[in-house]
Amino acid sequence: MSKLLITGGAGFIGSNFIHYWLNNHPDDQIVNYDKLTYSGNLENLKDVESNKNYSFTRGDIADAKKISKALEGIDTVINFAAESHVDRSILDPAPFILTNVVGTQVLLDAARDAKVKRFHHISTDEVFGALQLDSKEKFTETTPYNPRSPYAASKAASDHLVRAYFHTYGLPVTISNCANNFGPYHYPEKLIPLAITNILEGKKVPVYGDGLYVREWLYVEDHCSGIEKVLEKGKVGETYLIGIDMDLPNIEIITKIIKLLGASDDLIEYVKDRPGHDRRYAIDAAKIKKELGWKPRYDFDEALALTVKWYQNHQDWWQKLKNKNYEDYYKKQYIIR
Ligand SMILES: NC(=O)c1ccc[n+]([C@@H]2O[C@H](COP(=O)([O-])OP(=O)(O)OC[C@H]3O[C@@H](n4cnc5c(N)ncnc54)[C@H](O)[C@@H]3O)[C@@H](O)[C@H]2O)c1
Repeated sequence: MSKLLITGGAGFIGSNFIHYWLNNHPDDQIVNYDKLTYSGNLENLKDVESNKNYSFTRGDIADAKKISKALEGIDTVINFAAESHVDRSILDPAPFILTNVVGTQVLLDAARDAKVKRFHHISTDEVFGALQLDSKEKFTETTPYNPRSPYAASKAASDHLVRAYFHTYGLPVTISNCANNFGPYHYPEKLIPLAITNILEGKKVPVYGDGLYVREWLYVEDHCSGIEKVLEKGKVGETYLIGIDMDLPNIEIITKIIKLLGASDDLIEYVKDRPGHDRRYAIDAAKIKKELGWKPRYDFDEALALTVKWYQNHQDWWQKLKNKNYEDYYKKQYIIR
């Protein structure tokens, strides 16, 4: 039996991971440690609240005293906690440095003191920078870091710190860098849930620039099973890229969602581009497949249909999130061309 501390467990991927882990490892204990920022939402975990193997502590990973207390008796830390939205990092980088860089360092120190058996850090493919639209190149574990947004730079810094704690102090770390995720409990300001919920509300869907920004999309449950494989079979000190070998331009994703919902292409609205917008990301996931035997369970179209259904069936969940703060952010962010 293991005792896991999940930081950022009230967010999109963290809450999916908690569900996944409790289903697949019912004897393990989980402490969810989360600051509950705008994207942290305990409603994501309503159904596990009364599970005796689950508990929640509200706290900041940058709060040394509180995080040390939360780490008592923990053997495995999985660090999902982060400021996670590129667009918000362009509007205001400071919270990204405080949580993603300083917070990770404070957490690493506390994990060292607590002598945890594993510190797994969740990262992103955005640390590698952008690929050319017309190239076949993909990111691998040895691609040099070249972050181009404040978000990506802060995540890159956190990855470097995690590796440094392995080499300098022998902290037993692993890192996974994943493609874009989608699925249930995804905060409705990110592309896929934004498109689905706007269409369900009969609103336009904003598309940046020419819409030809290419991303790789992994269903969140497959990300969870990838992390599980790294925890179970991954080699300490190593990094694993998690992806699905597909990539699509944003506009095609939106067109697919429009089709699934039987709506009209007239809902597409091109808006002013994101500054420094990375053209393409793509992951070569050969290492995790070959060395750890991981493979994704869902293909993209099947998972997109499941996701659309989930948002149709959980309107209460997302309607509450589209409140005044959300609207204020939305107006600042999307400028019609
Ligand atoms: N969403 C993606 O497509 C994607 C892809 C690859 C990697 N990632 C990484 O996965 C992780 C989770 O991303 P997400 O999409 O679930 O993000 P999210 O914004 O939905 O969740 C982040 C969670 O962290 C919490 N948090 C923020 N600052 C904190 C702090 N200082 N202390 C404690 N908790 C704090 C928030 O309250 C929230 O619950 C992040 O590290 C992100 O960089 C995300």
